[in-house]
Amino acid sequence: MQKKIPVIFDTDPGIDDSVALAMALFSEELDVKLITTVAGNVGIDNVTSNTLKLLEFFGRTTPVARGAASPLKRKLEDASWVHGSFGLGEYDFPEPRTQVIEKNAVEAIRDILKNSEEKISIIATGPLTNIAAFILTYPKLKNKIDKLIFMGGSLDGVGNKTPYAEFNIGVDPEAADIIFKSGLELVMCPMEMGHTAYFNKRDIARIKVTNYVGAMFEVLFRTYKDNHVKNGAATHDSCTASYLIEPKIFKTKRAYVTVEIIDTVKTGIVVCDFSKKSRDIYNMSVCTKINVVKFKKLFFTIMGNID
Ligand code: BDR
Ligand code: CA
Repeated sequence: MQKKIPVIFDTDPGIDDSVALAMALFSEELDVKLITTVAGNVGIDNVTSNTLKLLEFFGRTTPVARGAASPLKRKLEDASWVHGSFGLGEYDFPEPRTQVIEKNAVEAIRDILKNSEEKISIIATGPLTNIAAFILTYPKLKNKIDKLIFMGGSLDGVGNKTPYAEFNIGVDPEAADIIFKSGLELVMCPMEMGHTAYFNKRDIARIKVTNYVGAMFEVLFRTYKDNHVKNGAATHDSCTASYLIEPKIFKTKRAYVTVEIIDTVKTGIVVCDFSKKSRDIYNMSVCTKINVVKFKKLFFTIMGNID
């Protein structure tokens, strides 16, 4: 068997984050070393407690570090209207018995990277606040990051937080700006992926009967609202995680990607310049297509790994 890919998972659960986390934890390809939480879909207390609840539910003991309580320069505008007031819909999880580690997200990421002999990848399924704060604090450790795969932006400049801004980028555009200019190896998984590879009603009926995790997801999906997916559940964050597990599911293109940070009606819009004239300044790979059949096959294979 191939060596597992070491990864740090930065997240704001969040309904689709929960599915992504399960995919990362139960996949045979990834070794999740650390989970860091970030204010986004709901506030930091709730996303952190949701992460602990999910881990206990999954029977896992991966360390969890609490991250940023608000974006770098703005007040948090959450997405509780999408994920429910606590962030995990109506599912009645027991209160977590475990706790976060003492170090905050930035310090915990530093420790993991510093003590690792190999490079580590990061999957980010929330606003990029923690990762930007890490880059600002420990720029020299950038070279220990293999790649950063983040869910954010859109190919066509249409948003879900505002008419222009996708949620993760729109919540903390300054953090996204730092990341886009960081020189890290970046992969962007834009909104179109999760809207194309959404779970339809038939998928959800199948998910419900896979096992106890699938039954829980089905309850979460009853709450999940997405303007683009009326009858089913968008898969934004699990598409993002699946890139690291099986990149061949996606078509990618190199691009020069920027984000609007000035306060206008378009704050948080992401612009992807694929033109050849920008070749010399391309700063990331952008997922432009997803193979829906292969993505769902991967998802159900991983669900089959759960006892
Ligand atoms: C992103 O925003 C959040 O609400 C989801 O969890 C996902 O990360 C989609 O725009
Ligand atoms: Ca998320």
